[in-house]
Amino acid sequence: MDASMTQEKQTANPPATGPAKLNLTGKLEEVRRYWNDHIHDLELAKHPVGTLGFFEDLAEYRFDKLRYLPKVVDFASYKGKSVLEIGCGVGIDLVKFAENGAHVTGVDLSETAIDLARKNFAHRKLDGNFLVMNGEDLDFPDASFDVVYVHGVLQYTADPHQMAREMYRVLRKGGEAIGMVYNRISWLNALSKVMKVDLEHEDAPVLEKYTIGEFRDILSPFDEIEIIPERFPVASRLHKGWKGALYNGLFVPAFTILPKAIVRPLGWHIMAFARKK
Ligand SMILES: C[S@@+](CC[C@H](N)C(=O)[O-])C[C@H]1O[C@@H](n2cnc3c(N)ncnc32)[C@H](O)[C@@H]1O
Repeated sequence: MDASMTQEKQTANPPATGPAKLNLTGKLEEVRRYWNDHIHDLELAKHPVGTLGFFEDLAEYRFDKLRYLPKVVDFASYKGKSVLEIGCGVGIDLVKFAENGAHVTGVDLSETAIDLARKNFAHRKLDGNFLVMNGEDLDFPDASFDVVYVHGVLQYTADPHQMAREMYRVLRKGGEAIGMVYNRISWLNALSKVMKVDLEHEDAPVLEKYTIGEFRDILSPFDEIEIIPERFPVASRLHKGWKGALYNGLFVPAFTILPKAIVRPLGWHIMAFARKK
């Protein structure tokens, strides 16, 4: 996707309107606590939490698993734009935007995530503005950003419709929102049920899977929405034993030869590119 949009006033770091105010309801408080404990517990990282090696391990794993991401999100095309990521986690994707010259702000409910995202940027000597904030109640004025990026977050929050309204509010006219939720009618959701293998973070206090129609409904504040289902099987490093062998040795190669045009609606990640006119 390209980021050619009318550029209004450029602000490097749009100011929050005040100090962080987290008036969380019960469910969001559970979400905050869960991600404080789990944002950094990925067993695939070989280096100590918070080191540059740790962030490199996570980025390497992420972009191996999500091979589609740099193909559909052209990080270089956002140079000079102000990008807000809601639910930024440890900031892996924001690094890509910042390395390519975007002015980035990351917010997350989890203090652990924000602390790690700051460390990630410090290791790489990149500028970024990181705040503990609720994406359903953003502390930014209307029309603050050119791009709002929400990858793997709407499905973990208490009220995704409220988050989408906030995404729309803080976007400038001509701005673009980029989001991803999990597809309920997808190869991975079906496989996990048949093989009785839990998906990552299946124990989170909120984890919803949506159909393409339901995702469109969440994004209904937006004026234009383009949906692209993505994320097809690649070999797993996490799953071992006979299930891992069957998946890596049979399922992945068999699925890979199926024509994309046929299997695309079954992609695990529903990517959306939405515009505010
Ligand atoms: C699965 S992680 C995704 C992190 C990152 N976007 C990525 O793709 O690696 C979900 C993140 O969303 C955050 N989150 C969930 N609900 C949120 C909310 N209402 N406001 C801000 N962050 C939220 C969690 O704290 C967690 O860091």
